[in-house]
Amino acid sequence: MKFFVDTADTDEIRELADTGLLDGVTTNPSLIARTGRDFIAVVREICKMVDGPVSAEVAATDFETMLKEGRKLAALADNIAVKVPLTPDGLKACRALSREGVMVNVTLCFSANQAILAAKAGASFISPFVGRLDDIAADGMNLIGEICEIYANYADFRTEVLVASVRSPMHIVEAAKMGAHVATVPAAVLWAMFRHPLTDKGLAAFLADWEKTGQSIL
Ligand code: E4P
Repeated sequence: MKFFVDTADTDEIRELADTGLLDGVTTNPSLIARTGRDFIAVVREICKMVDGPVSAEVAATDFETMLKEGRKLAALADNIAVKVPLTPDGLKACRALSREGVMVNVTLCFSANQAILAAKAGASFISPFVGRLDDIAADGMNLIGEICEIYANYADFRTEVLVASVRSPMHIVEAAKMGAHVATVPAAVLWAMFRHPLTDKGLAAFLADWEKTGQSIL
């Protein structure tokens, strides 16, 4: 399973990239706005920090302009994945950009029907939003299960399931059990994956006992 961090904050990305466990980055207009920085400059910087895909979202809603924006974003770096919304024009842009060899992440997916359309349009990634479904009392993880099951039925569907709108480490465990290819996760949730109180307690006890031996390894 691959982990992307869901942020445009370069400090957060650098810290996670240093672990060697980060496979990519996703941004969206809200995350870019939060940085207060220039979109193109921040995306260029992020692309140099990780080898894997960096999602950068178009701002247009019509096919022609999405295509122009997508081409401009794709030219920024080899590891750009152009993010387009799951609309008819977005999927048209997905198909056109995919045929040009550009990675496309189709975002704002809330149903299995939408995920089927994105795969047919040649998306590299489909981003179902689990947290936002949970927020309206729907079952976000059930959608991930449905999409994984459907995609597994068709060898010609090459689209990876990118679990988005992740709110807790349990979303990641559930997604991994279902075989989702990628989870894009806020930095705080990725760091929470490392932690367990018994790890801290056990380490403290080992260190205290080691101290008693009076030895040193180096
Ligand atoms: C990532 O690609 C999505 O834009 C993001 O995960 C949405 O998360 P949110 O629902 O917490 O805003």
